[in-house]
Amino acid sequence: MPNLYKSVPVRSSEITPKQVYLSRRDFMKAATVTASAALLAACAPSTANEVQNVKPVPTSNATDELGDKVNTYSDITNYNNYYEFTTDKQGVAGLVQDFKVAPWTVEVGGLVNNPKTYGIEDLLKLLPQEERIYRLRCVEAWSMVIPWEGFTLASLLNLAEPTSDAKYVRFETVFRPEEMPGQKSPYYPWPYQEGLRLDEAMNDLTFLATGLYGEPNVPQNGAPIRLVVPWKYGFKSIKSIVKIELVAEEPDTLWKSIASNEYGFYANVNPAVDHPRWSQSTERRIGEISRRASLPFNGYGEQVAALYDGMDLSVNY
Ligand code: MTE
Repeated sequence: MPNLYKSVPVRSSEITPKQVYLSRRDFMKAATVTASAALLAACAPSTANEVQNVKPVPTSNATDELGDKVNTYSDITNYNNYYEFTTDKQGVAGLVQDFKVAPWTVEVGGLVNNPKTYGIEDLLKLLPQEERIYRLRCVEAWSMVIPWEGFTLASLLNLAEPTSDAKYVRFETVFRPEEMPGQKSPYYPWPYQEGLRLDEAMNDLTFLATGLYGEPNVPQNGAPIRLVVPWKYGFKSIKSIVKIELVAEEPDTLWKSIASNEYGFYANVNPAVDHPRWSQSTERRIGEISRRASLPFNGYGEQVAALYDGMDLSVNY
């Protein structure tokens, strides 16, 4: 019986030739020098590359640690869940043109010794950027493999120094209905909010992504900064974050507040517990024809299963 929990995330620096990797790091650095360059890159990567005189990084042959190929840049940026724009996954990319991702600040506060509001460019200077190739498994039973750049959430929380009363982390997406047409819909309690238990937030897998495929992140994928929690259903990976708050109680989350019987707080990928309206035992990898088995904790159990020792994950779904 294979150990389904055994899987260690690959850093794309490990599989990308060093020269290419270095030019990508230079690009990431260069791209953050001016907010306007970053914005341009976010809207039109090819033009930005001409400006920066750096070619896109050819990571399309890269794989995750299970040997699965990364999805194409086109798949990743044209098949999105971002309800602030539309519920049509193939329509998000066409609706982001008015969304301004620069300038951008992230407020880190609540139960911390060092509350602070950071400009995105400060974060990029303060915290070392790394690459992570992660599987993203949506609760709707589709999945992708995505090469992100960014830094661990733990590295940011350590700067903030949570106090001993802090038990959870709450995240909030920007609220700008004039730029995000879906936020005019009265059916959702905007702004989108999410949460993690503090030990989940401090796990080394928990990532704040600022780049994608060697380029600055694009609006449809949550630019300029979004959470990526690869062992949980995708809805936990909140996009375009403006606020991170350390709190004592389990925070409300958007999907749980709409339908708590369907979307729990934990939302760990769990093929043994079906969604009330569909099976979670298999998934459709975008770009593949036949379905594949879903893995407990999306294949990251070795790193995270211990966080849930003693918990009944069919109750804490
Ligand atoms: N964050 C915000 N603010 N709004 C959203 O609608 N959708 C979530 C998550 N983060 C969502 C969000 C869902 S359901 C998924 S599956 C992932 O984003 C999709 O991320 P992707 O479009 O980058 O693949």
